[in-house]
Amino acid sequence: MCGIFGYLGSRQASNILLDGLRRLEYRGYDSTGIAVKDETIQIYKKVGKVGDLETILPSQIDGTVGIAHTRWATHGVVSDANAHPHRSANGKVVIVHNGIIENTRQLRTSLTVQGVELQSDTDSEALAHVIERELSVDNNPENAVRRTLHLARGTWGLCVLFLEYDMIVCARNGSPLIIGQGDGEMFVSSDPHALTPYTQRVVFLEDGEMATLTKNQMSLSTIKGKNFDPSITVLEDDWGESELGEYPHFMLKEIYEQPDALRHCISGRLDRVRGNGRLGGLKLEPRDLAKVPHVRLLGCGTAFNAAEIGQMLIEKLARIPAVAHISSEFRHNDPVINPNALHFAVTQSGETADTLSAVKEIQLKGGSVYGVVNVVGSSIARECGKGVYIHSGPEQAVASTKAFSNMVAALSMFALQVGRSRATSKEQGKDLINGLQQIPHLIEEYLENQGPILEAVEMIKDAKCVLFLGRGISAPVAKEGALKLMEIAYIPCLAYPAGEMKHGPIALLEEGSPVVFIAPNDHVKVKTISAMHECKARGARIILIHEEGDDIASEADISIPVPQVHSLLSPLLTVIPTQLIAYHTALALGCNVDRPRNLAKSVTVE
Ligand code: M6R
Repeated sequence: MCGIFGYLGSRQASNILLDGLRRLEYRGYDSTGIAVKDETIQIYKKVGKVGDLETILPSQIDGTVGIAHTRWATHGVVSDANAHPHRSANGKVVIVHNGIIENTRQLRTSLTVQGVELQSDTDSEALAHVIERELSVDNNPENAVRRTLHLARGTWGLCVLFLEYDMIVCARNGSPLIIGQGDGEMFVSSDPHALTPYTQRVVFLEDGEMATLTKNQMSLSTIKGKNFDPSITVLEDDWGESELGEYPHFMLKEIYEQPDALRHCISGRLDRVRGNGRLGGLKLEPRDLAKVPHVRLLGCGTAFNAAEIGQMLIEKLARIPAVAHISSEFRHNDPVINPNALHFAVTQSGETADTLSAVKEIQLKGGSVYGVVNVVGSSIARECGKGVYIHSGPEQAVASTKAFSNMVAALSMFALQVGRSRATSKEQGKDLINGLQQIPHLIEEYLENQGPILEAVEMIKDAKCVLFLGRGISAPVAKEGALKLMEIAYIPCLAYPAGEMKHGPIALLEEGSPVVFIAPNDHVKVKTISAMHECKARGARIILIHEEGDDIASEADISIPVPQVHSLLSPLLTVIPTQLIAYHTALALGCNVDRPRNLAKSVTVE
């Protein structure tokens, strides 16, 4: 979604801003722009990619202070005029803004009455004009921004550039903003990954906070005007390159990174001797775990699918009722919160607005939430204050792959840890640990020999609709496979627990309809086979993901075997062919695999 990058120092700002924008590209956007201050503030903005913006830039842009933006349209169509930065009427104030200004209509009306002509349809532009007006009151940029934000309602990650001052004023409310401290230079971004090539020393602004940056100094205050000292976080180096390397697409690279990602996730977190998990971040004693009445897991999209698997693992191993909830629904249903229950927010980016709101709802009602998060220092990780990092390394493709696997692995370790204090024996624990430790190698083995993925692609690439079916722990895998194919190849997909098929989706089947079955060798396989027969009897063609050596293979038109594994961990293997099918189908259809239309990597609006 929208991204911000800002720089002030002694170097020419424009190249640094462009580099920052490229590092934000993976988040998804429709237009970009930069503003650089010298004698004037020059603004360049354009619909399309950062590469398109570069085509309109002069060969040299002088100026050592600037701000830049990637926009993902919310208010106003995708157009050059609506792209950020936006300038005030006298050209002396320029802003970039992430988030939504809810009372923009009111602000715009009052500006129009004062004779201001707005140049865009965005909710953001009004802020630039109000800041200009407030600046004329006392010529104090920080106070002008502060007073403006007192008039605004909504969410913001905001950076403001002033023609007459060598500074950037920033503010955060509900949309992340991180300050990077360099040597005689300052950076600011909505995404810590964009800062790490320049500095590891960062300050995460919290909601209601502001920062005034000069090249040598940052002064922090609350929006109410109380000053405070910066608390510097030193970012650790993420494992994994954020560059493509030898791969044509980030999605493929990230599919192949799954074995190593899983090794990072489980490393040091398994106690083989006691057959137990060792997730330090949970900060829970066995006696507390024994008293937990129920568990709730929250997530969106892929994270929700992983949470559903977590729900089953927790119920199975710990014998505690567990439910996965879609975050965007959660707070609107006025949920009853039991303070003794365990709540988990599952998220790759740690910035998903729907999940963040669900976390706040639980906290408001006296509950506490553990984060199961990939991005270190992200808003949800900090809001929860406890939990586990899944250590997937940077995930750049919009379609989430390695984060899914690591969410499942982290939740399985959690289920084991709670299970060992309740219902799971040491031997069962050791079994699961064995299984988990084998997974990275088994995925490598599968990736060496992927089976007839391209045949499956041929079968589905021109289909009107693809049905994905699985039972038990494979039902969320079916959902994940459908989500992946739909989001990057734009093929309508439905996913159902296989037993539900005969209650409705069966009506869609006609001669040649492709149906993808996920059927590992577990206790529900026989039931899944019945559903498969029902599909075949109606002319459907079956793509079957199953375990190696299983004679179920003979039931399929296209059979894709994966290595055998502990039955509770089968999603970590069965999901891989679904990722590859989605990837190769998108390629075959000429789709933009890493940046599918309309989607954003991190969805920071509700
Ligand atoms: O960053 P999060 O894990 O919270 O993101 C949640 C979803 O937006 C995300 O999983 C989305 O569904 C992906 N594009 C799926 O590939």
